[in-house]
This record gives sequence, C-alpha cells and structure tokens, in this order.
Amino acid sequence: MGSRLGSYVTTFLTDSIFHSGDVQATGIAVCIVSMLCFSLICFLIGLLFGKPPGNNACKKKKYLVRTVSRGCQFGRSRPSFVSNIGSKKAIARFPKQKNSVIVSCRELPRQLNNVACLCCKIVAAKKNCRYTRCGSCCRGNKASICHAHGTGGTAAQGIVEGACQDKPTELDLSYLNLKRCPDRIGYIGSQLVSLNLSNNRLASLPDEIGFLRGLEEFFLQYNCLTELPNSIGNLQKLVELDCKNNRIRRLPNTLGNMTCLSILNVTNNGLQSFPSSIGKLHELEELCAHSNQLTELPDEICKLENLTSELDISSCELVYLPDSLSRCTSLVKIWLSNNKLKAIPDQMGRLNQLKELHVRNNQIRYFPASLSYLQLYTFSANHNPLIEEWNIESILNLSVQPSQVIPPLSELSARCIVKNDVYWSKGDVPTALEDMLLNVRQCSSCEGPFFKHYKSQVVFSNVGVFHRVPLYQQICSPYYNTHCQPVDTK
Ligand SMILES: *[C@@H]1O[C@H](CO)[C@@H](O)[C@H](O)[C@H]1NC(C)=O
Ligand SMILES: *[C@@H]1O[C@H](CO)[C@@H](O)[C@H](O)[C@H]1NC(C)=O
Ligand SMILES: *[C@@H]1O[C@H](CO)[C@@H](O)[C@H](O)[C@H]1NC(C)=O
Ligand SMILES: *[C@@H]1O[C@H](CO)[C@@H](O)[C@H](O)[C@H]1NC(C)=O
Ligand SMILES: *[C@@H]1O[C@H](CO)[C@@H](O)[C@H](O)[C@H]1NC(C)=O
Ligand SMILES: [Zn+2]
Repeated sequence: MGSRLGSYVTTFLTDSIFHSGDVQATGIAVCIVSMLCFSLICFLIGLLFGKPPGNNACKKKKYLVRTVSRGCQFGRSRPSFVSNIGSKKAIARFPKQKNSVIVSCRELPRQLNNVACLCCKIVAAKKNCRYTRCGSCCRGNKASICHAHGTGGTAAQGIVEGACQDKPTELDLSYLNLKRCPDRIGYIGSQLVSLNLSNNRLASLPDEIGFLRGLEEFFLQYNCLTELPNSIGNLQKLVELDCKNNRIRRLPNTLGNMTCLSILNVTNNGLQSFPSSIGKLHELEELCAHSNQLTELPDEICKLENLTSELDISSCELVYLPDSLSRCTSLVKIWLSNNKLKAIPDQMGRLNQLKELHVRNNQIRYFPASLSYLQLYTFSANHNPLIEEWNIESILNLSVQPSQVIPPLSELSARCIVKNDVYWSKGDVPTALEDMLLNVRQCSSCEGPFFKHYKSQVVFSNVGVFHRVPLYQQICSPYYNTHCQPVDTK
C-alpha cells in the first residue's frame, strides 16, 4: 500500500512539474504540500507516543501514604498498575503495595490512577482525583466537582470516614465546595497535625473541632464563617491559625488558651474587637488583622512580648491606640495605614527595634516627640492632616508655657499621689485635687505624671529618612528637672 501511495505521489509530481508551464508556482505548491504532509505525520506520531499533558496546577506536592496495619485483603480483581510512559516515576515512588492507601491525593500526579478504593478495596480511584473511595461507593452524581465521586459533601464525608480509620497526620479538605463540616470530623484523632478546610463555603464549625487536640496548623481561609466555636480554645498545640477572608465578627475569649499560637491571620473579616485574652498568647509573633472593623485594641496587647515580626492593623476603624502598645518592644514592623487615628501613643519611641512604621491615610496632625529617637527605614505618613511648618497659628495654639517657675502646691501633691500609687477614693481629697487626679497626663520626656503645670510645643524634625514632620511634646518640669530634656530640633 505504501508503494502504491509513493507511485501516486511521483506521478502527481512529474505531471505537475513537467506538464505545467509555470515551474516556479509548481515548486511552491510542492513545498506547501510536503510541509502539510510533514506536520500530519508529526501529529500522528504525537498522538501515538506522546505523554498526556502534565498537571501543572499543583505547585506544592504533598504525599500522604498511610499503611493500614490490619491484614487488609484486596478482592479478587486487584487493580493493576498501567504501565504507560508517564507513570513509571510514580510507580517507583509508590511500589505495588497491597495496603497503601492515599488519604489526600489532590496533588498526586495524574498518572497515579490506580489506588484502591478505601471502601470496597476493589475499584481503583479515578484519574486526577483525590477521593479515597470509588465512584460507586460514593454514589456519584454528574453535577459534581469530580465526576466519579458525587458532590463535595459526599466526597468529604468519605474522606473523613476514611481518616477516622486511618488516622492520618494531615488532612486536606480544601476546595470541596462544602457548606458544612463533614460529620465526625472531630473524631479523626489527636494525631492530626494539619487540617486544611480552606476555600469552601463553611458557615460554621462544629464544637467537636475541639477534639482535634494535636492540631498545629489550621487553615480556614476563604469560607463564610461568622464565628469560631469556643471549643477552638482546646487546640492548645496550635501554632498557626489562618482564618482570613471570612465574615468573623468576634473571636471567642478562649482564644487565649491557645498558648502555642505564633501566627494568627484574621485579615479581611468583620472583627470589631479582640478578646482581652489575646494577651495570653505569649508566643504570638505575627498578628495580621488588616481590613476589619476594629475600633480599638485591647490594653492587653502590651503582653504580647514575642510579637516580633509584624503587627498589621491597617484598613480598620481605629481611632486611638492603647498606650500599652509601646511595651511591645520587639516589634519590627507596624502597619496602621487607612484608619482614623488622631494620634499615636506618646511613648512609641520606646519600640527600639522598630524599623517600619506605616501610618498613611489617618487623621494625625502631629507625632509624639519620642518618634525622633527611632531609626526607621520606612516611615510612610502621607495623607494625614499634618500641621505645616508655616502654619504659625496652629503651632502657637498648641504651645503652652507655664506662668510660674515653680509648680503650684496642688500640682505637686497630685503628682506625688500618682507617682507613689497612693490609693484614694471619693471624698478623701479636696474636690479640686480630685478633678485634677482624674486627668493625669504623661511627660514626653521623663514619662512622669503632670496635670496643669507643663510646657508644650510643636517642633519639626526628621523621622525616618528625610521625613520632616511635626512632633509634639509636653514637658512636666521645663525649668529644673534635668531628666526632662526637650527633643533636639536641629
Ligand atoms: C490547603 O489546600 C490547598 C489545596 O490543596 C492548597 O493549595 C493550600 O496550599 C493548602 N493551604 C495550606 C496553607 O497548606
Ligand atoms: C480557656 O479560656 C476560658 C475563657 O478565657 C477559661 O475560662 C478557661 O479556664 C480556659 N481553659 C483552659 C484549659 O485554660
Ligand atoms: C495574612 O494574610 C495576608 C493576606 O493574604 C497576607 O498578605 C499575610 O502575609 C498573611 N500573614 C501571615 C502572618 O500569614
Ligand atoms: C517568646 O518566645 C520564646 C521562644 O519561643 C520563649 O522562650 C519566651 O518565653 C517567649 N516569651 C514570652 C514572654 O513568653
Ligand atoms: C486653637 O484651639 C482652639 C481650642 O483649643 C480651637 O477652637 C481653634 O480652632 C484652634 N485654632 C487653630 C488655628 O487651630
Ligand atoms: Zn518630665
């Protein structure tokens, strides 16, 4: 047949070349025909021997192979490994073991298509699918994510049932379109270290989640959660909790029981406040809470001594910050942009590790003088109604000079009471003194208390690299206390 085709082509060529007048046109025609033939042959070869397209969507590969220890027998027709070119590597990695079961195989190469179903142990799981049960065991329906395995809920239930038996250390239930947690998820066991429920449509978590006491990583991002169950506080080994992109309005007060927590990401939720127990998270290193509706931070934030890396509370509704923030002295980066801050704490300059401070787009008119002690690499402060250097009226308006050199006796006694922590209750002191005591202020320099006798001024100085900003300071003893030196303005 090949020779006949050959003779046809030769006849056609000789005919067209020698019986046609235009040799050039014929030459071009022959060229085109031969190119077409060549690509047709290439295509055919590709179809016969080519590899199927690889699954490039998976970047991070996690293999979880559990060995079922009970003498588990496969049925009569154990699925055999198909030896096509692409699967050789995968087979080498997963030898023909009678009892290897893959719990989470979402990211397996698609060639590995013959893991036995956990339920019937006969039929192979389908290609490119992470479910551990075969289609018939999952009573599949066509409108599913994975055509062989039914809806996300059914598949997830299958995975969880399997996990309750196999006791894996990690479980991936992400992207299953789940509206509720599969039943019995809490009963998988305390050996579970990592649980990924991200990218579903969960509106709530069951209380039994608190049974997973071994959990170290818990991924809940991209769901529709409005709150977390109180029982989450039982996860006392949890190191990372990611619940960004949900609709969480409040965190349970039991949060403080998760004493190992080191990364907490609650970005893009509806949080209005943090529970005060957050102060118990002594290991917390990163707190990411931007895009929430936080109006204030709890005072307890000062107890987060290990908050080293980051504090991100930008794009919230913060109006003021607790003074205690200045005690998180390990902080390196603080993001506070896009809030409604009118001021930042007076003693911010105590954060001597601070290298980045972002306060763009707030209502700040001036910064505390202590800021000039910091060695900031990044300081973004634009889009604030900062006092301009030529605005003498505002500057003078903020300047106070005490009329007397010596503070009045009432001032001195009030300072004494506060400095020595003298306990007083209503009626113990004259009403004038009482009024004073209720309005204690802090010296920018010595941090001591003052009331009515002080000096205040606005100076302009550099903060960060070439940022000339207004700095405000209040000095308790402008005339004779050598500890109270105003900030250098040169
Ligand atoms: C959760 O699972 C998804 C899908 O398997 C994966 O892409 C993602 O990286 C996992 N998340 C984490 C934080 O491990
Ligand atoms: C967990 O937190 C709650 C509320 O803060 C507290 O009452 C409870 O004692 C804590 N439990 C443990 C085990 O620490
Ligand atoms: C928290 O999530 C945000 C948004 O995806 C991300 O930019 C940030 O790096 C995360 N922070 C932590 C500590 O994981
Ligand atoms: C901060 O973390 C270190 C090591 O992780 C730990 O030793 C230390 O006790 C923590 N600090 C506090 C205040 O708990
Ligand atoms: C000066 O301060 C007073 C009240 O303290 C305020 O009403 C006034 O608007 C201020 N003037 C300027 C120019 O800031
Ligand atoms: Zn002072």
